Amino acid sequence: MTPYLIRNVSVVGAAPTDLLIRDGVVAATGAGLTAPDAAVIDGTGLVALPGLVDLHTHLREPGREDAETVESGSRAAALGGYTAVCAMANTSPVADTAGVVEQVWRLGREAGLVDVQPIGAVTVGLAGERLAELGAMADSAARVRIFSDDGHCVADPKLMRRALEYVKAFDGIIAQHAEEPRLTEGAQMHEGEVSTRLGLTGWPAVAEEAIIARDVLLAEHVGSRLHVCHVSTAGSVEVLRQAKARGVRVTAEVTPHHLLLTDAKAETYDPVYKVNPPLRTDTDIAALRAALAEGVIDIVATDHAPHAVEDKECEWAYARPGMLGLETALSIALDVLGPEWDLIAERMSRAPARIAGLEGHGVDPAPGVPANLTLVDPAARRTIEPAELASRSRNTPYARMTLPGRIVATFLRGEPTVLDGKAVK
Ligand code: DOR
Repeated sequence: MTPYLIRNVSVVGAAPTDLLIRDGVVAATGAGLTAPDAAVIDGTGLVALPGLVDLHTHLREPGREDAETVESGSRAAALGGYTAVCAMANTSPVADTAGVVEQVWRLGREAGLVDVQPIGAVTVGLAGERLAELGAMADSAARVRIFSDDGHCVADPKLMRRALEYVKAFDGIIAQHAEEPRLTEGAQMHEGEVSTRLGLTGWPAVAEEAIIARDVLLAEHVGSRLHVCHVSTAGSVEVLRQAKARGVRVTAEVTPHHLLLTDAKAETYDPVYKVNPPLRTDTDIAALRAALAEGVIDIVATDHAPHAVEDKECEWAYARPGMLGLETALSIALDVLGPEWDLIAERMSRAPARIAGLEGHGVDPAPGVPANLTLVDPAARRTIEPAELASRSRNTPYARMTLPGRIVATFLRGEPTVLDGKAVK
């Protein structure tokens, strides 16, 4: 294993120092380190962050390997500065058994580019009727701790209660896709002025807020951990704020796209902007940004949702919802939050690692800690070219936009997965 000496790098925004990576760990930090056997990286102007952790990634394998594989998604993640991702369960077959979650986990190990932690489905086939084998998935080699029907809401309150009760035994988490299905039948975009003008069926904010309100009460009643996926409305932020103030064990995520883009994008009728929950309004964006800064929203999660060309380059109504996120998330965070490195490290690495219980991740580079880290060049600007992305899909909403920040290198347990901005394997 080649040791690496990173010279003159700012660790999470602190004054520049040298950082020696050897045998999988950060061996030393300090000015003027020497290591004759090490490969040297000039870190001048770069910021070292704990490797990013994504709590919400769709890797599409098994089933839609034409859109993404565990390997291609892992490479996209590494290029985005990630060292761990949680893989959502809406694959085909659904990750609702020990067999499927172990398969995804094993494929992640074989790719070896990031740690892939499978999320298990809450209900069999995501059908919302019977609980999946939560215990078997928890006991499997994949050691699943987060369960989600993401893409679908666990709408039945009794089933949601049972799921929360079940995972309490091992301090597991139910990650809810909050969408009241009756209120979003046929919905194509955010319900508001733009949907009225375009004549598209709207997805009202209350469909999200009503489920979050119900679920925080259920989580409080049961005493279990609830995680709310892709929070998208100002009203949801208020529900979460109150729940947290009461001590409910709830955490929440926001996506980069919900922090930046609004429903006005639907006026293009370009399905690249179709996503679930939908892009909302400037008022929602302002509330989400404030909640992220404050901690009412705990983390940024990408909801990286690759889709094949035929599922996106079609009429709006027929297009699948979802957009790529892994390779652009850090740039969007930098754009939205500015160079607030401690906040970025907290919301994109430490807190998601803590929530998911991923040992060795989300720890700032310091002597003795596993060398899971990424080097960012904040001064670089890059123009997003979909054809250059490592993902198998091309559905980025940031095509041809120029964004701040570039990932220069990523290390997983001391091994580079990205060097000079390029994937190592
Ligand atoms: O836009 C979305 N795409 N939202 C989801 O909840 C699911 C995801 C997907 O799997 O494509």
